[in-house]
Amino acid sequence: MGQKKLIKFAAIKAYENVLEYPQDIQGKWNSFFNALGKDTSPIDIAKLTLSKLTISDEPALAKPLTLELACGRGEYAVGLGRMFPEQNFIGVDLKGNRIWKGASIANKEGLKNIAFVRSQIELTPNYFAKDEVDEIWITFPDPQLRWSKAKKRLTHPKFLRLYQQFLKNGSGNNSDLNAGIVHLKTDSPLLYNFTLKVIEMYGLTLIYKTDNLYAEPTIDPRCLIKTYYEGLDIAQSNKIHYIQFNIDKELPIALDEVLKEAIKDIPMDAGELIRMEAEAARAKKED
Ligand SMILES: C[S@@+](CC[C@H](N)C(=O)[O-])C[C@H]1O[C@@H](n2cnc3c(N)ncnc32)[C@H](O)[C@@H]1O
Repeated sequence: MGQKKLIKFAAIKAYENVLEYPQDIQGKWNSFFNALGKDTSPIDIAKLTLSKLTISDEPALAKPLTLELACGRGEYAVGLGRMFPEQNFIGVDLKGNRIWKGASIANKEGLKNIAFVRSQIELTPNYFAKDEVDEIWITFPDPQLRWSKAKKRLTHPKFLRLYQQFLKNGSGNNSDLNAGIVHLKTDSPLLYNFTLKVIEMYGLTLIYKTDNLYAEPTIDPRCLIKTYYEGLDIAQSNKIHYIQFNIDKELPIALDEVLKEAIKDIPMDAGELIRMEAEAARAKKED
């Protein structure tokens, strides 16, 4: 492993705003961010208090919490954290050397409403309590282009069932308009069309979609935050696709087999083939 990576791994171990595979943190994020803001170092997770949000008859006292999944360097966690100082943001990614970048920026700028979790996204239900998360951004995730890898796509129902365990239900019963929204920003037409298929097949609520975000007459300012991978434009598409939806229905496992067949026909355009080659080359270089 390269020296630079080792230095970054060591650095995040000492950062208060990075938690690696945290234990016993469910329901305590509001308390964690309070401690982060007060510079009570080191933060002892065992001593953090459970948010009132987990007690059903109490009003929600916790600040809104948004996750950036597959955050990489965490441009969204940091960018949204700057825009909304009264809300909390957590980036989740497996790669510590990438997280280091966002965590270092947050530390340098004194942004105490931003943290990072280094872990597989598959483990997120261990870290967040029911209804603890208000919104999720999935930013330029690997599109997992091969049909046989569709289950690894972060908008596959297998993953949506995980998010459902801690994401607020945005079914309209909630007074908070932003509750329960999942945002997907991608340059992959295949992932975009796959996600729309999932939304349609499982009867989820589609709030907004565009296959050319920057050509829209009005753009949500949050969508103007650019990530590292967006800048790479690997598929040379120059078109950003964006979807907002709610995971507001049951997702029957029996439908997954039907989905598997239904997505066989989603075409791969030329850009996706360029991406496949570029990604393979990049993976080889990183090994
Ligand atoms: C294509 S990069 C995008 C990074 C960043 N969002 C951006 O736009 O620059 C995808 C990221 O997803 C992370 N990732 C992929 N699958 C993951 C998983 N199952 N759990 C955690 N991180 C994952 C990778 O480590 C990588 O940093």
